[in-house]
Amino acid sequence: MAVSAPGPPPDLRPADELDAADPLAGFRDEFVHADDEPGFVYLDGNSLGRLPRRAVALASEVVERQWGHRLIRSWNEGWFDLPIRLGDRLAGLVGAGPGEVVLAENTSVCLYKAAVAALGVRPDRTRILTDDLNFPSDVQVLRAAARAAGPEHEVVVVGSDGVHGPLDGLRAALDDRTALVSLSHVAYRSGWSWDLGDVTGMAHDAGALVLWDLSHSVGAVPIDLGAARADLAVGCTYKYLNGGPGSPAFLYVSADLPELTNPVAGWYGSDDPFDFDFNADRAAGATRFLTGTPPVLSAALVGPGLDLVLEAGMDRLRAKSVALTERFLVLADEYLVERGFEVRSPRDADRRGSHVALAHPEARAVGQALIHEESVVPDHRPPDLLRFGFAPLYIRFADVDEAVARMVRVVDSGGADRWREAAPVVP
Ligand SMILES: Cc1ncc(COP(=O)(O)O)c(C=O)c1O
Repeated sequence: MAVSAPGPPPDLRPADELDAADPLAGFRDEFVHADDEPGFVYLDGNSLGRLPRRAVALASEVVERQWGHRLIRSWNEGWFDLPIRLGDRLAGLVGAGPGEVVLAENTSVCLYKAAVAALGVRPDRTRILTDDLNFPSDVQVLRAAARAAGPEHEVVVVGSDGVHGPLDGLRAALDDRTALVSLSHVAYRSGWSWDLGDVTGMAHDAGALVLWDLSHSVGAVPIDLGAARADLAVGCTYKYLNGGPGSPAFLYVSADLPELTNPVAGWYGSDDPFDFDFNADRAAGATRFLTGTPPVLSAALVGPGLDLVLEAGMDRLRAKSVALTERFLVLADEYLVERGFEVRSPRDADRRGSHVALAHPEARAVGQALIHEESVVPDHRPPDLLRFGFAPLYIRFADVDEAVARMVRVVDSGGADRWREAAPVVP
C-alpha cells in the first residue's frame, strides 16, 4: 500500500529519522492494530481513539471475573468508587486536585449540570457567552440550561472568522449581565486552542464563571485548571484518552466553589447512597455532581488509555503533537493547496490543538475516496472540511507523509468523482 510520496521538501527531516528518534515511538505497540489492513493510516483519533491492548485484557477481567464470578460483591471490590478513583487519576492530567474530578455521564449531560449550577450562583445575571466555534451540542445544552434558569436568560454566541477564537468579541460582549462563559478549549472544527488562563481571568474580572469543554484537548494539549483558576470543566474520554466508544465523560468542579449544586441530584451524589435516605446530605467535592449508577463496564475501560497518557507525559506528547501538525501543514502547503485544499486551522502552534482542518469544495467525496481507496481515515465536517487528527501516542511521522501522498493520488486520479454519491450516516 506504500505510495511513492511526492517526498518531503528538502528542509524537512526524513520521517523515518524522526520516527527512529521519537521517544514515544514504543507507545504505538500499546494499541491494537488490525493486521488485515496493512498500510492503514488512522487520522481520526480526535474523534475516537484507538483501542489500548491493556483495555482488551481489562475488559475480560471486568466482564468475566468481576461481573461473571463476583457479581454484586464487585460493588464492594472497586466498582462503587470507580468514577471517583478514575476522576482522581484524571485530575493529575488536568491540573486539578483530589476530589475535584469525577467520571459521570456523557459530555453533554455533564455540561448541562455544570451550566445550571453556575447560573444558580449568579442569580442576578442572565447571559451565557459562548462562540460560534463551539460544538453544536454544547450550544444546544447551554440554551437548555438558560431555559431552565428562566425566561430572561439567553445564550449569546460571539462570531468568529471560523478559525480563530474571537477574543476581542468575547471581551466586548462580557458585562455585568454575563453569568457564565462556556467555550471549547480546542475548537472541534479548526483546532483553535484558547489560552485557559487568559480567558478565565478576563471572565472573572467581569464577575462571570467559566466552564471549559476539554473534549478536544485532554490528552493532547497540556491543561492546568488550577493555575487557570477555572471554575468548571467537562470533557470526553473517547478521543485522545482512548477510553472507547461512549466512554463516560468527566466533570471538574473547583474546590473553591462549594456553593455550586448539582441540578440533577441523585443517590450517587449523596454522602451515603446505601443509607437509602430521602433527605441525604450531598457528598463532598465533585462527587456531589454524580447522579445515578455509573456505567461500570465503560468506566473501567477509561483507565488503560488514561494511564498511557500519564506514562507518556503531557510535555512529550505535546512536543510530538506540534511536530506532527507542523509537518502536515508544510506538506499541505507544498502539495495540497495547489490541488484545491485550504488550511483552516491556526498557523500558530501555540494556538492549535492536535488536529488540522483543510477545506475542499469536494471534502466529503475526497474523504470517502481516502477511506475506501487509500485506507486513510480522516473525518468530514460539513459543508467543506476534512479534519486530520494526529494522536501523538500512536501516529508516526511516516503516517503524515503517507497520508499526504495518498491525498495527492486520490485527487489527481479523480477520486471525488467516484465517491460523490456516498453519504455515510457518520461523516
Ligand atoms: C467538543 C465536544 N463537546 C461535546 C461533545 C459531545 O460529547 P457527548 O456525545 O459525550 O455528549 C463532543 C463530541 O464529539 C465534542 O467534540
